[in-house]
Amino acid sequence: MKNKVLFIVTIVVVFLLGLLASSIINRKSEAKYKYVPSVVIGKNEPRNEEWGKNYPREYQSYMQTADTTFRSYQGGSAMVDMLEEDPRMVVLWAGYAFSKDYNQGRGHFYAIEDLHNSLRSAAPENKEDGPMPATCWACKSPDVPRLMDEHGVGEFYAGTWAENVSEVVNPIGCADCHDPNNMKLRITRPALVEAFQAMGKDINKSTHQEMRSLVCAQCHVEYYFNKNKPGHEGTNYLTFPWENGFAVEDMEKYYDDIGFSDWTHAISKAPMLKAQHPDYEIFLTGVHADRGVSCADCHMPYKSEGGQKFTDHHLQSPLNNVANSCQVCHREETDKLIANVYDRQQKANENRIKLEDVLVKAHIEAGKAWELGATEEQMKDILMSIRHAQWRWDYTAASHGGSFHSPVEIGRVLGSGLAEAQEARVKLVRLLAALGHNEPVAMPDISTKAKAQKYIGLDIDQLRKDKQNFKSNTLPKWLEEAKAREAKMGSNKVVSTKK
Ligand code: HEC
Ligand code: HEC
Ligand code: HEC
Ligand code: HEC
Repeated sequence: MKNKVLFIVTIVVVFLLGLLASSIINRKSEAKYKYVPSVVIGKNEPRNEEWGKNYPREYQSYMQTADTTFRSYQGGSAMVDMLEEDPRMVVLWAGYAFSKDYNQGRGHFYAIEDLHNSLRSAAPENKEDGPMPATCWACKSPDVPRLMDEHGVGEFYAGTWAENVSEVVNPIGCADCHDPNNMKLRITRPALVEAFQAMGKDINKSTHQEMRSLVCAQCHVEYYFNKNKPGHEGTNYLTFPWENGFAVEDMEKYYDDIGFSDWTHAISKAPMLKAQHPDYEIFLTGVHADRGVSCADCHMPYKSEGGQKFTDHHLQSPLNNVANSCQVCHREETDKLIANVYDRQQKANENRIKLEDVLVKAHIEAGKAWELGATEEQMKDILMSIRHAQWRWDYTAASHGGSFHSPVEIGRVLGSGLAEAQEARVKLVRLLAALGHNEPVAMPDISTKAKAQKYIGLDIDQLRKDKQNFKSNTLPKWLEEAKAREAKMGSNKVVSTKK
């Protein structure tokens, strides 16, 4: 009898608990899907604030990418002049625009402004003026998919940077990653879709978890401007060099096979490659990728506000938010996790700096060899070694998260770069001796950015003056045009006023 009563009581309690749980789950999903769209977002809507009317939490967290107060050992959102920090880079990039100006990446909010300000985009006086092509806008703004849809992909790449200053004005945002009809993640950059096709893969078959990284791989990858794309010859067609695979050697082979170089080095005359930011490719070789962790898991963790769970769109260094990013999976203390990251970064940097020192010497010694009358034939192998070694250096340096995302791979690439650079110097010593120079080549003082820029012959004051002129006279005019154009777009149609 006692047992029977207990049995019935237990059943009742379990039933009530079940009711409670299901009501909690319902509330949670209510909370998650509470949004009632208040405006209709058009298919090419580039304005983040318009999307923000429907999704205020995501929009407000996105706006926090404007914050510039966080600085970690080697990352963060603060403005850092990388050439000032490490003037060797000026010499490594001699003859290329990066030697003029190179700052550490800031938040997505600044993507447009930072490109206006960079000395690399120079000071065009009219819309046909160089030096940069429209393609440079490709990773900066949801105006890019808009323009590609309105005018065609090839047509967009064929334009100048200058003519798009009045067109590309909204920083990286909602339309870059979301389909306005259902908010599903989507790929808006043809270069990524085409790179998958070139590898014989269909990007539309990607899983949801893969998409949480692939939206980033639209921009955080290695790329080049292909001037020989069939049907688009002569335009700067954005292309990812993935046909042979993602590894540093695979991409190097791709570039070597088509005889591509980004520029000719001003001192050594080596045919150089500039690595962009192969974050996605390097990430794939690391343990987190191997365990199925996505970029968004660490850089866009979930956040709760007023009982509502949503995706934090404040894309930033996860070290500014260890609790929501790392500690979802790891139980170690914050300090310990940060120390783990710094440890990997510092160890990678030890060898990265060594490789830079060797490369600077190799460029200058090669310059000396030319001076002493070396022939193309004598220099050919040496210059290829310099090209390959610097490509490996840049590949590790340009991916700012790489030494955490995949420390072992970064160590491997730096090691092979050091061997290749030393190989170039061994050949150089032999050649210099044959040319009658049997002593060390004198090295310049490049201890500051200013000294290094002077050494490679840059007139930085003139470049600054031109830029100031562009910003006070030309830029405001073009931004006015943009304002007038967007004013005509008006606000989106209101569908519902209830929240
Ligand atoms: C396991 C967590 C994790 C994953 C997954 C991850 N990252 Fe990171 N990422 C980090 C950490 C930690 C840093 C170092 C931040 C620092 O130095 O302040 C970093 C740095 C970066 C940086 C440089 C940020 C800065 O402030 O300088 C970029 C860009 C970046 N990651 C992009 C990506 C992309 C793209 C992916 C996916 C392909 C990705 N990350 C995947 C944790 C992660
Ligand atoms: C449309 C191109 C584009 C897409 C898509 C994109 N990024 Fe970026 N990202 C950039 C650019 C450009 C910058 C540098 C902006 C600047 O410095 O002005 C940047 C900067 C960053 C930074 C440095 C910000 C800081 O405060 O340290 C991180 C981290 C980052 N992106 C991670 C990601 C992740 C993760 C994804 C995918 C969820 C992603 N990005 C998607 C183009 C993009
Ligand atoms: C760099 C790519 C990227 C950009 C830019 C971006 N999002 Fe997202 N968004 C994501 C990812 C990744 C998720 C998580 C999706 C998932 O896992 O299903 C997400 C999720 C969402 C969701 C679903 C609900 C939630 O919070 O998880 C909404 C709504 C949303 N974003 C709105 C916006 C708005 C509004 C903007 C512009 C202000 C924006 N997003 C910009 C990548 C992006
Ligand atoms: C979604 C889960 C997840 C998140 C988020 C995550 N990790 Fe991990 N992490 C893993 C897994 C899984 C491993 C592999 C270790 C294993 O399987 O035991 C790992 C491995 C590591 C390792 C050892 C591997 C190596 O690189 O040497 C470190 C260090 C690490 N994580 C740090 C971090 C930090 C710092 C963050 C936040 C920026 C972070 N993790 C975020 C799941 C995660």
